Formats: sequence, C-alpha cells, structure tokens
Amino acid sequence: MLSRHLSRRGFLKGTLAAGGAATLTALSWSRVLGSNERLRVASVGVAGKGWDDHTSVAASPHVEIVALCDVDEGKERLGKAAEKYPSARRFTDWRRLYGQAKDFDAVIVSTPDHMHAPIALPAMKLGKHVFCQKPLTHSVFEARQMRLAAEKYRLVTQMGNQIQSNAEYRTAVKLVHDGVIGKVKDVHSWQSGRLGWMLVGDRPAGADPVPEKLHWDDWLGVAPERPYKARLYHDFNWRAWQNFSNGQLGDFGCHILDPVFLALGLTAPTTVRAEAPPNNREVWTKRSTVHYEFPGTERTAGKTLKWTWYDGEGHYPTAEALDLPKKLKLPGSGSVLVGEKGSLVIPHVAMPKLLPEEKFADFKMEVVPAVNHYTSWADACCGEGKTTSAFSYAGPLTETVLLGTVAIRVRGETLRWDSKQLNIPNSAAGNALLKKHYRKGWEPSWIS
Ligand SMILES: NC(=O)c1ccc[n+]([C@@H]2O[C@H](COP(=O)([O-])OP(=O)(O)OC[C@H]3O[C@@H](n4cnc5c(N)ncnc54)[C@H](O)[C@@H]3O)[C@@H](O)[C@H]2O)c1
Repeated sequence: MLSRHLSRRGFLKGTLAAGGAATLTALSWSRVLGSNERLRVASVGVAGKGWDDHTSVAASPHVEIVALCDVDEGKERLGKAAEKYPSARRFTDWRRLYGQAKDFDAVIVSTPDHMHAPIALPAMKLGKHVFCQKPLTHSVFEARQMRLAAEKYRLVTQMGNQIQSNAEYRTAVKLVHDGVIGKVKDVHSWQSGRLGWMLVGDRPAGADPVPEKLHWDDWLGVAPERPYKARLYHDFNWRAWQNFSNGQLGDFGCHILDPVFLALGLTAPTTVRAEAPPNNREVWTKRSTVHYEFPGTERTAGKTLKWTWYDGEGHYPTAEALDLPKKLKLPGSGSVLVGEKGSLVIPHVAMPKLLPEEKFADFKMEVVPAVNHYTSWADACCGEGKTTSAFSYAGPLTETVLLGTVAIRVRGETLRWDSKQLNIPNSAAGNALLKKHYRKGWEPSWIS
C-alpha cells in the first residue's frame, strides 16, 4: 500500500520543485498518507447524484468515506448515507465540516450548481483534493477561480462529467484524433429532451412549511432568500431556476460538448450569440440556439470553427441541414462533426457513427476501453496516475458552457469574449452576468 502513496519527503520535494509558498500553505494543512492509511473522503450532498459519486469513489480500496454532509437529514438523504457508512461523521453545514479539516483529505461536492464553488473553493484553500459535479460552477468567474485555485494549491481535481471516461466518448475522441473524418469544418450539438423539471413559469406566491429535516437556509446558501415551496426546488427541480442552475445547456453542456472540446483541443470561444424566447424573470428559457465561434486548431479546417448548440423539446437540426442522408435518424441528444473526409455522429450516449456509411463500410472502429472516472481521482489523490477532467480542463469547458448561458440571457447580442481579461468588451449586460451576487452573510471570502 505504501508504494501507492507519495512519501512525505517525495511529496514535499515535488512541491518545492514546482515552487510557490502558496503550495506549501495548502500542503501544510493536508495530511500525507502513510502505510495502511486510506484517503479520507468527505462527501457534501450525499443523495441524488451524490450517492453515485461517493459510492463510486468508495469502490476504491484506498478510500474511506469519513464524513457526510447534507442539508437534508431525512432518511432518504443523510439518513441513507449514514446507514451505509455508520462510522462516518455527519454534518448538515459544510462550514462545520471544514472546521474539522484535519480529519479528512479530500472532498466530493455534489450539491446543486449554485453551491459548487462556494463549497469547493474553501476546501481547496484548506489543501483538500476535490471531485466536483458538473457544471463545475454557476458563473464564468467562479469557473476561472476553480481552475486557478487547483493550479495554485496543486491539488488533484476531477469534474463529474463521468461519460468522458466511457468507451463511447473515448472512442469518438480517438476517431477525430486519428484524422478519420479529416479536419473538422463545422459542429452541431443538441439536447432535445423534455425539461421535466420546469414545473412552473414563474415564482408562485406564498410559502409551504419547510420539512422538519431540511435546513432550508443552508440549502439556499449563497442564493438570495426565498420562501420554501414543496417540489419546486429541493430536490432535483432546482434546475429550472436561474438562481440555482444554468438550465438545459448548463445541465448537459459539460457532457455533450465535452468529447468535441477534447477532440478538437478547443479552449475558449471568441464570440457567442444566442437565439431564445424572452427570458422569464426567474426560470430558464425552454428552448435556445447558441452559436459559438472558436479560433481554429490543428484539427479544424479553417481559421475559425463554428459550433451550434440547440436545446428544447424536439429542437435539433435535421440530417438534411447537416448534409447527411435524409433518412438518417439523429439521436435525441449528441453532436455531429462535419469533417473534410466524412462526418461523425456522437450520440449521448452510444457508440459513434461514421458517415457516409458506404465510405466507412470496411472501416474497423477500434473501441477505446473505458476508465473509471471516480477511482482514477482517488488513485491520483494517492499519487498514482492523473485525472482526465482536472479543473485545468473542466474550467475552460465550463466557461464555454456558461458563456452560452450568458448569451441566452442577452439573446441576439454577439458577445465578444476576451478570455485573458475575463471580459465581454462589447456588452455591459453580458459582462455583468459573468459574476453573480452573493447573499449577505455568504459573501465569497473564498474568492481571492
Ligand atoms: N454527472 C452526471 O451525470 C449528473 C447527473 C445528475 C446530476 N448531476 C449534478 O449533480 C449535482 C446534484 O444534482 P442532483 O440531481 O443530485 O440534485 P438533488 O437535488 O437531487 O440532490 C442534491 C443533494 O445535495 C443536498 N444539498 C443541497 N444543498 C446542499 C448544501 N449546501 N450542503 C450539503 N448538501 C446539500 C441535497 O439535500 C441533496 O441530497 C448537480 O450539480 C447536477 O448538475 C450530475
């Protein structure tokens, strides 16, 4: 077991070579694993996707789940996780958990989107490795801070876009890297499913009694105060609301755009423009089309690349519009990359398909085996291997996704994106949406 972990001396040597007092500040908080010791993981947001996250990470023999934190103490949430890990300490407030920072080494953050950065960034400041759900954050600015913090404190990070590690997406990326469709001219991506969480068109009047086991104020966290209403927010349906989520693009973008972003080596768009119905005050639009333009890369045909995103029930391009055979049935969500030598359909989630079929009839597709997105994070925390969706990658991907959600809110404007300056120079309205307001008492001391 010892060989799996870096010795204290080795760890510090590597750190000093990398330089930076800040690194040591973080490390001075972190524990160095010894023989027979396990990575002590705290899980924040333990039900819903959080259940998948901590059980998948705990599948590693090197992991011990030592702390559970959830604002809902009900038997389906904190109660259920507590039954699974009876010796883990229980918390309802992550700030109290962080008060016991010496008792854990790494954190899983699986809360609704608006609390990802407020919970993950202080953990990083404490020198904790982080696995954080997608989209990495709730604002573009926060996504940048997450990337910078991971770099500054030299932590092992992974975003929860686990489909990246599946054979299907990995195979698709390899096909593009191998040049099978040639250089890519144009990309279209979509999620045309029903918005099952869009239960109302606006905030209803009144309030419902807060369930006895739910800490509603802590659930709201950095978001503006609002009365509790049953079913509309907690659980799952928070996705409808701008204060807590990033709508359908935010929900699926970090999955569906991921293999394209990775395959083409994209980093930041230069312009973004959206078509969408007028926004309601508080819920997201039910349908949008977002046009991104990126600088070309070695894998694109031109000096720029156009990439269009579509969401909304039944909203996606026809095969004909993409110069594909009229009878071709496109998947309900996924992407088409139009290349100089053929097209690639990347369904969400199924094996990729090369077109035209006749041209690739004899092509033997080499399936790239899956890797474990969760235990690879735990292994990397123990000094073995690397994660594939570290915040150095997931940060720019999330920035791209969230720039689309900025464009949706200032629909019709072509936003010029200055990634270096983290600025939209031609739109005050767009620029204002790169950051968000935090509730009094929850101000972000965690952003430096
Ligand atoms: N990678 C994927 O395939 C995938 C799938 C579903 C959800 N997600 C992501 O996972 C996250 C959670 O989504 P969900 O559908 O599970 O939501 P959910 O509302 O069903 O569950 C969230 C859990 O976090 C708890 N929680 C909420 N605020 C908290 C706080 N401040 N501190 C501690 N616990 C808190 C809730 O009580 C609940 O148990 C989101 O970011 C979502 O985008 C990812």
